[in-house]
Amino acid sequence: MTVADTLSQPRLAPERPEDAAEADALIARAFGPGRFAKAAERLREHNRPLEGLCVVAHADGQVVGCVRQWPVLIGQRPAVFLGPIAVDEAWRHHGLGGALVKRAADAARAAGHDLILLVGDTPLFRRMGFDAAPARRIVMPGPVDQRRVQVKALKPGADDNLAGLVVVA
Ligand SMILES: CC(C)(COP(=O)(O)OP(=O)(O)OC[C@H]1O[C@@H](n2cnc3c(N)ncnc32)[C@H](O)[C@@H]1OP(=O)(O)O)[C@@H](O)C(=O)NCCC(=O)NCCS
Repeated sequence: MTVADTLSQPRLAPERPEDAAEADALIARAFGPGRFAKAAERLREHNRPLEGLCVVAHADGQVVGCVRQWPVLIGQRPAVFLGPIAVDEAWRHHGLGGALVKRAADAARAAGHDLILLVGDTPLFRRMGFDAAPARRIVMPGPVDQRRVQVKALKPGADDNLAGLVVVA
């Protein structure tokens, strides 16, 4: 039995300023210091998370999961860059990661965005509706395994003819 089996179900909500420190600590635990060297970080530094589109999961008064989203341009096309996503180790394998991505994508769609971009594990995100094939000609601002660059169209055709360098919007 894990902690997650004994406590109440996590509650998902938009990240508030008072959640930020706990979410940052969770991300630091999940990824370690190496995260700052990633190409994805180039799209987060000098950028601001999209208000209302970052999601946290609270359980028993603690932040046990989080996902953030950022405005970027792929060439000239506006898109949302998703990440990092982290779930506290005690709460993993219960569908919370998938629920966070779904909530984040729903919020992005409701806010009028039509495309989400991320760099991540292919099997994990394929199950959440992401696809590497339309992202082949997208150029991240730093070295990256191109197979991990994936997109999810929030509207039909939003992932057609994607190409170009990704920059902070
Ligand atoms: C990735 C993460 C957010 C998933 O959270 P979660 O709540 O366990 O996600 P879900 O329960 O919805 O899905 C779990 C499934 O995702 C898949 N999965 C998780 N991590 C994976 C990985 N690194 N590569 C491939 N598949 C992975 C597994 O199939 C797993 O299934 P299982 O529970 O049967 O083992 C969590 O493991 C985490 O915080 N990891 C550390 C940070 C990280 O790697 N973030 C993603 C960067 S790409």
